[in-house]
Amino acid sequence: MPKTVVVTGANSGIGLAMAHELAARGATVCLACRNQAKAEAAREEIARRTPGAKVDVLSLDLSSFEHIHRFATDLAARHERVDALINNAGASPLKQQFTAEGFELQFGANYLGPFLLTHLLLPQLRLAAEQTGDARIVHVASVAHNIGRIDADTFRGRSKYRPFPAYAQSKLANLMFNYALARRLPDGLSTHAMHPGGVDSDIYRELPRAVHAALRPFLISADRAGRLGAELALSPEYRERSGEYLTAQRPNPVSRRARDVAAQEALYAESAVLAGVEPLPRR
Ligand SMILES: NC(=O)c1ccc[n+]([C@@H]2O[C@H](COP(=O)([O-])OP(=O)(O)OC[C@H]3O[C@@H](n4cnc5c(N)ncnc54)[C@H](OP(=O)(O)O)[C@@H]3O)[C@@H](O)[C@H]2O)c1
Repeated sequence: MPKTVVVTGANSGIGLAMAHELAARGATVCLACRNQAKAEAAREEIARRTPGAKVDVLSLDLSSFEHIHRFATDLAARHERVDALINNAGASPLKQQFTAEGFELQFGANYLGPFLLTHLLLPQLRLAAEQTGDARIVHVASVAHNIGRIDADTFRGRSKYRPFPAYAQSKLANLMFNYALARRLPDGLSTHAMHPGGVDSDIYRELPRAVHAALRPFLISADRAGRLGAELALSPEYRERSGEYLTAQRPNPVSRRARDVAAQEALYAESAVLAGVEPLPRR
C-alpha cells in the first residue's frame, strides 16, 4: 500500500533531503512548511529529480498553536491516513524570540509545537497502524542534547539568553519525548529519534562566516541525514525498534539526563498541560 509521510521543515536542508528520498521510494510526501515560496520551489525540485513524485504542500508554523491546529485540520481533510510523521523542523536564532503563546522560540517551536502536532495527528497515524500494522513517528533530535538541561524556569524565556543552551534543551526534550512516547503508543505505531549528524545546512546561517568556514570540513551532506530519516520512516528494519535513537554520524552518546525515566515522565506530563492535549496513558 502506498505510504503517506508528513515532513515538517521540508523546504530546505535535512527535511528537503528526506522528502527527496521518500519521494524516490514511492511515498506521497506532504511538505509541512512555514515558507510557502520555498515549499513550492521544493515541490518543483522534487518533481524534477523524481518524475511522477506525489508531493503535497501544506502551511505549518510551529511557533503558533493556532497555526498547528489549523494545519492538522487541513491535513485531515486531504489525507485520511498518515503512515509517518517526521518532526524535522527546527531553528536556532542567535537572539531570543518567542512563540505566539509566549514560549522561548527554541523550546516552543523545536519541541512544544512538534509535541502538540504529534498528538493532533494521532488519529491518522492510528488509522495507518490499524490498516497496515506499521505507522511511525520520527523526531530529529541532536547530539547537542548532551549539554541540554530541562529547566521549566526558561520555558518562557531566559534573562540571559544564550542560543546554544536553549537549542540543547529543545533537542534534549525531543529525545525525552521519544522515550516517553514509546511507552504509550499502541502496537503498530512506533517512535524513533535520530541525530542527523553535523549537516551542512542553513541552520548555521546566523553564525559568523569564519566560524561557519571552520566548521564546514566536519559537516556531512544533508542527503546522508535524509537517507536515515527516510529509512526510519519506511524501512522494515526499524519497524520493531520503537524508542531507539540512531545517528547518521558517530559518535552519538545518549546523556544520562535523556535516559532518566522519571524526568521523561515529568516533562511529558508538563508538556501535555502546556500544549493543551490529553496525555496518553502508559501501556
Ligand atoms: N544541521 C545540523 O548540523 C543539525 C544537527 C543536529 C540536528 N539538526 C536538526 O535538524 C533539523 C533540520 O535542520 P536543518 O539543518 O535542515 O536546518 P535548515 O535547513 O535551517 O531547516 C530547518 C527547517 O525548519 C523550518 N522551520 C524553522 N522554524 C519553523 C517554524 N517555526 N515552523 C515551521 N518550520 C520551521 C525551516 O523553515 P523556513 O525555511 O521557513 O525557515 C526549515 O525548513 C532541525 O530540527 C535541527 O535542529 C541539524
